[in-house]
Amino acid sequence: MSILLTGGNGYIGSHVAVALGLAGRKIVILDNGSNSSINTISKIETINRAHVPYVFGDIRDMKLITKTLREHDVTAVIHLAGLKSVAESIEKPLDYYTNNVEGTISLLKAMNSQGIRNLVFSSSATVYGTPRQLPLDETHPTSATNPYGRTKIQSEEILADLARAQPEWRIACLRYFNPVGAHQSGTIGESPKGIPNNLMPIITQVALGQKSQLDIFGTDYPTPDGTGIRDYIHVMDLAEGHAAALQFLESHAGWHAFNLGTGKGHTVLELLESFEKASGISIPRKISPRRPGDVAKCYANVDKANRTLGWAANRSLHEMCSSTWNFCLNFPRTTTCTSPH
Ligand SMILES: NC(=O)c1ccc[n+]([C@@H]2O[C@H](COP(=O)([O-])OP(=O)(O)OC[C@H]3O[C@@H](n4cnc5c(N)ncnc54)[C@H](O)[C@@H]3O)[C@@H](O)[C@H]2O)c1
Repeated sequence: MSILLTGGNGYIGSHVAVALGLAGRKIVILDNGSNSSINTISKIETINRAHVPYVFGDIRDMKLITKTLREHDVTAVIHLAGLKSVAESIEKPLDYYTNNVEGTISLLKAMNSQGIRNLVFSSSATVYGTPRQLPLDETHPTSATNPYGRTKIQSEEILADLARAQPEWRIACLRYFNPVGAHQSGTIGESPKGIPNNLMPIITQVALGQKSQLDIFGTDYPTPDGTGIRDYIHVMDLAEGHAAALQFLESHAGWHAFNLGTGKGHTVLELLESFEKASGISIPRKISPRRPGDVAKCYANVDKANRTLGWAANRSLHEMCSSTWNFCLNFPRTTTCTSPH
């Protein structure tokens, strides 16, 4: 009996693979390598001290998915595979709908054909759009300001329809806030191919001298220091949330949404200061005007996940920054602080 991780070679997937290994679960990873390295597998295997079967392929290849589900005796799927750049989704919406929505549908069809109906889905806090009230809880209305966000809302709605039509489905949509950090081994971490979009990989590029300065977009928000507030969560805390969600689904049918965050917001300057302390490196910065579409504050109400999943994020902002830096020091030579692709 195995858990299939689609996109399991990626940033979050590799940490989920480690968390599941620690929880004693057998896993199989399927990934098309579009934003990850084949080398990640051996690092997961080293941490888990176990062989991890790897299937190179695409979630849109229904035949391959069906074969993988059958051959590896899969009982549940954690579906992380997807494209995740907001900016790219605005330029290439069809790529995003094809990969993220069509991909999810073909995965679901393959699962249905094999009678496998346990699914944990990688969703995002982006489904809340512009917050109407804070903290954001799971009853907050969903809306999207870009194609990436719409692919997550559409996927969630497809999953909810499926659970209504076939009550045997057990589905947890995990709405991630802002994952940062790396596994304590320093061997796996955030490895974006191409230009990174998230704040932390850009900070590390500056720290490594690969980029001259950090652009801070907006210092006039209604926050204590004027910069935007986000709910940063250590990727290992996030990963452990997946193990908790799988366990929850063992005794709960239907469709469920959970926020995975810390419930605490930090400003851009607080994150920077913490990173500077952890790395001992000062980060040059440039103040730029606000970017259209950015919100002042976004942080989670995590009561539902704490209460229902028996899970909580425990790692500090300092641990998020020091583990990121530890990973970067191990792999400093690539264009971002990546493990070699
Ligand atoms: N990192 C974040 O800040 C964040 C926040 C919210 C939600 N998410 C979601 O979490 C999931 C994982 O994110 P991540 O940060 O690990 O991204 P990532 O790019 O590091 O990992 C995604 C993995 O999926 C693979 N992949 C993409 N399309 C595929 C396809 N069609 N078939 C097979 N494999 C495919 C990529 O090669 C990559 O290894 C994504 O669905 C993303 O939208 C991420």
